Amino acid sequence: MIDLHSHILHQLDDGPESIDESRECLRILAEFGFEELIPTPHRFHMLYDPQPEDVADRVAEIGSLLIRRFSFEYMYAHDLVERQFDAFELSTTASGWKVLLVEFLPFMSRKNDIEQAVFSLNMKGIAPLIAHIERYSMPDEFWAELKRKYAVYYQISLKTLSNRFFDNKRNQIIRLLDAGLIDNAATDLHRLAKIQQIEQGLNYLHKKYSKQIARLFSLSFEG
Ligand SMILES: [Fe+2]
Repeated sequence: MIDLHSHILHQLDDGPESIDESRECLRILAEFGFEELIPTPHRFHMLYDPQPEDVADRVAEIGSLLIRRFSFEYMYAHDLVERQFDAFELSTTASGWKVLLVEFLPFMSRKNDIEQAVFSLNMKGIAPLIAHIERYSMPDEFWAELKRKYAVYYQISLKTLSNRFFDNKRNQIIRLLDAGLIDNAATDLHRLAKIQQIEQGLNYLHKKYSKQIARLFSLSFEG
């Protein structure tokens, strides 16, 4: 299993404050079955914008066999497509799309905004892997339609799946998983304190969606 979204590198963004905490997170994630993690510090964020050199320093300092490279979680803003993207894509598809992890501003909640963003990224050869899509409260049909029209992938957060009781966002994840619309599941781990939620989300997937596990934690994206 490969994790494609975490803030597990210390002192870069809202992740761990110490290298010891980073290492402890890695140790436990390996116990959960993760064989590789591609950390994705925030990039072009209002609060955080670590430079690739700083990220590479942290990776070297931790020296974990689980971390062989890194990428970023890019905050989409209207000027994002004019920026020079770092050459740190998660993967490239068979058709040549560069897959980047992208999140939207919390207030960017209109369908048109998201569709326009995906269109603009596609024009640059980028197929966004949209982080924690349950966060945006869009109807299921919107996500289905977007996928029919554009090169776009969807990622869910294991933490949301860990919620036990009635929860709209968790229920949406389950519906989208049933519809086969989810491409990836990720820890989005920031701090050691949340690691139990990762375990609960993972256990749920193992129990109910075991056939999808290999695909949900891989780097292969179709299209
Ligand atoms: Fe994140």
